Amino acid sequence: MKYLIDSGDTEQIARICDYYPIDGITTNPSIVAKAGKDLKTLITEIRAIIGHEKMLHVQALSETADDIMEEAKRICDFSGENTYVKIPVTVDGIKAIKNLHKKGYKLTGTAIFTPQQAMLAACAGADFVAPYINRLDNISTNGIEIAENIHKMLSDAGLDTEVLAASFSNVEQIHMTAMHGVTALTISPALFDKMLYHPLTINAVHEFIANGSKYYNI
Ligand code: E4P
Repeated sequence: MKYLIDSGDTEQIARICDYYPIDGITTNPSIVAKAGKDLKTLITEIRAIIGHEKMLHVQALSETADDIMEEAKRICDFSGENTYVKIPVTVDGIKAIKNLHKKGYKLTGTAIFTPQQAMLAACAGADFVAPYINRLDNISTNGIEIAENIHKMLSDAGLDTEVLAASFSNVEQIHMTAMHGVTALTISPALFDKMLYHPLTINAVHEFIANGSKYYNI
């Protein structure tokens, strides 16, 4: 499983990277706005924490294919190696993915709500496609089923594009998405902690300490 942190909170990014097995960070314009920092400043701060071994997904905000392509170059200039440009799967977005892929960019098709959007992004050359699980669930569509369909379609078609499931609001959505074959998840810092929480684990640890500490003179 690839675990990514969906956040622009640098304190939380540092904490989660310190404790958990993390493969990268995802951001989007709303996450950048929440951090309240200029994009370049925020990305530089995140890179200072994570280095260049971990992936960093940075979203383009432009709307036309030409503008997205120019923005992708600027994003990669200041984000450095191992940067994935996130591009929403609009008509212009698909054109930009197709052309940027030919130039060797690493790309993530984002704002995905249907399997056909994901398939077009994958065929255009996206390395990852990001379906929004909770936003689908919020409109009475089964986000997990959509992610599963996308995963199956990509693998049936023999494409290397990976599903990077995004937009989770609870641990059950994460669990069910993982159960249906998805192997990359981007998760908020708070949900990482919730994934581990279990009162019986805490009780068990307290019990071990109470029983064993007298004998552990090591
Ligand atoms: C990440 O790639 C997405 O931009 C993000 O997960 C969207 O999440 P939200 O629906 O919680 O805003």
